[in-house]
Amino acid sequence: MRLIVANWKMNPISSKRALEIFNQFLRGITISHTEVIICPPFLYLPFLSTKLKKLKEKKIKLGAQDCAFAEKGAFTGEISPLMLKDLGVKFVILGHSERRMILKETDEIINKKLKEALKTGLQPILCIGETIAEREKGKTFLVLENEIKKGLKGISRRDAAKILFAYEPIWAIGKRDSCPVHEVMIEALSIRKILTGLYNKKIAKSAKILYGGSIDSTNVNDYLHNFALQGFLVGGSSIEPKDFVKIVKIAGK
Ligand code: PGA
Repeated sequence: MRLIVANWKMNPISSKRALEIFNQFLRGITISHTEVIICPPFLYLPFLSTKLKKLKEKKIKLGAQDCAFAEKGAFTGEISPLMLKDLGVKFVILGHSERRMILKETDEIINKKLKEALKTGLQPILCIGETIAEREKGKTFLVLENEIKKGLKGISRRDAAKILFAYEPIWAIGKRDSCPVHEVMIEALSIRKILTGLYNKKIAKSAKILYGGSIDSTNVNDYLHNFALQGFLVGGSSIEPKDFVKIVKIAGK
């Protein structure tokens, strides 16, 4: 089953619009062999969760875009993974490059968040990927290895098997051009190689790897024959209901 994760980032700016987009998703998404996970801003999670609970057909699941590295206490402005779980949230994006680069989130912080999310029973979606400068210097493998090794430090085999990996080359996020399919394939294989070294072949083989970076309804089809991939993390196109519904339909074929 393919997974399509919508990362709304800090959009839209009103709850009214958030509900409209969500309703358009509910009307448009019919395919059950695609798992659709919507990650809206924290503030919209409560009412979207209430809405989902009332529906018989669970064609959409909720995810958060981040969580705290502790379950409660004096952490002003933070959101506990327990609070997310209490709302029925199932997934959490961690280590997104915007948080790594703009908010200076380190691999050590991401590692703590991963552990806390796993302890709570949330399924983490760990984002990894290189900058254009790192790519041009041929350092992509090293970057992925470093982010995976540090991010998963001290995480057991059992817990590692629950983590979803989103390969998101930073230079392909929010652009017109996505990363060429054959390059995504190579990096997905790199991720499996790193996981083999860190854990074992079984974990590496069964790991779910998503690609993110300028996916839309016009290019998603190109990636579907890439058997190294199990789904997509969609940013910009995920707040365009028509485009997103199309992506889900194409990916569900
Ligand atoms: P994009 O964002 O689809 O707008 O490139 C992807 C992401 O940042 O997760």
